Amino acid sequence: MLTRIKDLAANLAPRLIEIRRHLHSHPELSGQEFQTAAYVAGVLSSCGLQVKEGVGKVGVVAELVGAGMDSRLLAIRTDMDALPISERTGLEFASRQPGVMHACGHDVHTTVGLGTAMILSQLGQPLPGNVRFLFQSAEETAQGARWMVQDGAMEKVTGIFSVHVFPTIPAGVIGVRYGALTAAADDLEITILGESGHGARPHEAVDAVWIAAQVITTLQQAISRTHNPLRPVVLTIGQISGGRAPNVIADQVKLLGTVRSLHPETGGALPNWIERIVASVCQPYGARYQINYRRGVPSVQNNMAMTQLIESAAEEAWGSQGVQIIHEPSLGAEDFSVYLQYAPGSMFRLGVGFRDRHNYPLHHPQFEVDESAIVTGVVTLAYAACKYWQQSEHLLHA
Ligand code: NI
Repeated sequence: MLTRIKDLAANLAPRLIEIRRHLHSHPELSGQEFQTAAYVAGVLSSCGLQVKEGVGKVGVVAELVGAGMDSRLLAIRTDMDALPISERTGLEFASRQPGVMHACGHDVHTTVGLGTAMILSQLGQPLPGNVRFLFQSAEETAQGARWMVQDGAMEKVTGIFSVHVFPTIPAGVIGVRYGALTAAADDLEITILGESGHGARPHEAVDAVWIAAQVITTLQQAISRTHNPLRPVVLTIGQISGGRAPNVIADQVKLLGTVRSLHPETGGALPNWIERIVASVCQPYGARYQINYRRGVPSVQNNMAMTQLIESAAEEAWGSQGVQIIHEPSLGAEDFSVYLQYAPGSMFRLGVGFRDRHNYPLHHPQFEVDESAIVTGVVTLAYAACKYWQQSEHLLHA
């Protein structure tokens, strides 16, 4: 089976690079991936899959029907959106859309998803059960996965795989992580409400700027003293606004931030914890406050058995030098976690780094990928999919 998959992938390689370059030069922003979705649907239809467009707003869902011997349904999820970045790679297939760029590799993800669909539909024998391919919109804004789920994309799904490119892992290597891969990411908005007054007579006013400064300092200090250091939390205030003039005491300051955590209990307790700190700073000075805490996406928790499938597929395909076990989670966020609320799954990292030159990070205007990684990703994913039905059932719900 592996030899067949590798042969198919080698034959498809030029076509896959062509697809990836087409997607790369025609990037679309989150929620507006209309042309990308139509292109994806066209490729999937030509593979003989049952294709549905407009799922999760702009997403595409396609089902590869198996032999019906096993009712377990495997989903393979990729994302299609690009970023509001002006590309500076100088590549001949660089973005033709001013100010929009595939700088997070979602063009590669989409290509790997399509390549996997092509291979699994050309195996010459049906798989024991069905495979559902999910091409979601709007991952960068953390909305697309919820839209897909609301439209029933996870109905009957019993396991799910996904992939994200990683420039610090060289092409040809698959990064595998057991347990937490990414963090929960929530949005925080704190408004400090003081009392305006003359800058020369602070005692007659309540200075919202001074109190906001203390709120920020106290939050950062209290995090290190009141949270278990082995359970990471990051709170970043990235935007601050308030005040009207240098000699007028500000009556209102708004703080906007992001809060990241890995452990569900830690994350669950954060809104109350933040409120306690803010109240303790505001109350002695007569300031009021409003806190708006919005839950974003949960942490991606990779399932043990599903991750093992990826690891063994990659190891059989590429040898032990083709697999890198990732020992640390990231505090980045990924809305793949939304699907994991419905079925166990695993997201792996696809190395796309060049071995002989500098690799720019994700979201950088000069971000590039070593395209040989596409075949590595397609073979790994297709082979892991083939192994899915060989797992005994109880393991996959551990
Ligand atoms: Ni991304």
